[in-house]
Amino acid sequence: MAKRALITGITGQDGSYLAEHLLALGYEVHGLVRRVALEDPERRFTRIAHLLDRVQLHPASLESYPSIFNLISRQEFDECYHLAAQSFVAESFADGFSTMNTNINGTHYMLAALRDLRPACRFYFAGSSEMFGKVRETPQSETTPFHPRSPYGISKVAGFELTRNYREAYGMFCVGGILFNHEGPRRGFEFVTRKITSTVARIKAGLSTELRLGNLDARRDWGHAKDYVRAMHLMLQQDVPDDFVVASGESHTVREFCELAFSEVGLDYRDYVRVDERFYRPAEVESLVGDATKARTVLGWKPTYTFPELVSEMVQNDLRITLGQTEGLPETVRGAR
Ligand code: GDD
Repeated sequence: MAKRALITGITGQDGSYLAEHLLALGYEVHGLVRRVALEDPERRFTRIAHLLDRVQLHPASLESYPSIFNLISRQEFDECYHLAAQSFVAESFADGFSTMNTNINGTHYMLAALRDLRPACRFYFAGSSEMFGKVRETPQSETTPFHPRSPYGISKVAGFELTRNYREAYGMFCVGGILFNHEGPRRGFEFVTRKITSTVARIKAGLSTELRLGNLDARRDWGHAKDYVRAMHLMLQQDVPDDFVVASGESHTVREFCELAFSEVGLDYRDYVRVDERFYRPAEVESLVGDATKARTVLGWKPTYTFPELVSEMVQNDLRITLGQTEGLPETVRGAR
């Protein structure tokens, strides 16, 4: 019988790639979505538009325990991937309360409902390299202590610890993936990589003349989201539940990303990039680079995309959108391809 998976955050970048991956493996895929999203499918389901006849969507709110309890009580699930969150770090400084409420309580509600109703369901929690924050060692691995630097990072540490606690206290198969930054053509426009590639395309098309960014010296370990969702699935197929770092092992500055993205279209980033203090964060995570040795050896996972391939794919996708080769569709739909 086909395995049945529930994905929270199925309409996001990772959720949409994971749904595709699980469908290809023969899973029956269900998604938890907000009611407002169900009422506005054209705008809200752009990343999963091509999957809508193959996935089952259920309205529920991560802010309401009864709605989660109700959804999980309706049928058996073999695996649950909890990806839904307020995931933009800068927004968590603007409204730390909402980020903490959604990210911490949402995770707790999911775990509590599963414990009551489906204790055999395997649970994946989307942890983050933001949990390392002001890093205590380089590279960061599963044993590196956490020192989060934003309400978002703090909420992810809490969710990660809750997940571990349910594993240890109730013997449930709960795992935390500590994923470093992962990007791709479906990335939201507020994140730095997509902001850069979409603006490069607009500049190339003559629609824009500059790109305003914050800290160009921040270092990140960037991979492709398509590679990273494979690791999520592998974590739930192990004999024993455990936590894993997923990373490329390479770090690059925001400046290097700009350099490569502009050179993809034959331009020099120094002619267009302007530093704007509005995009600085009150506390910055300066440098992240992951050690994914455990994922490579235990899960047999390895990334397939290189950094230049990732940048190139994102720029080319945004060029296609901007130059109107997929004319007639809203930008978010075209960006979702
Ligand atoms: N967004 C943004 N916009 N970031 C900028 C800008 C700008 O104009 N200028 C510089 N940056 C810097 C940020 O200060 C940060 O150091 C870096 O670019 C990356 O920022 P984001 O792309 O917003 O991602 P993030 O690293 O904060 O968080 C992402 O990765 C985490 C995993 O480490 C998000 O996807 C998180 O949800 C995820 O957990």
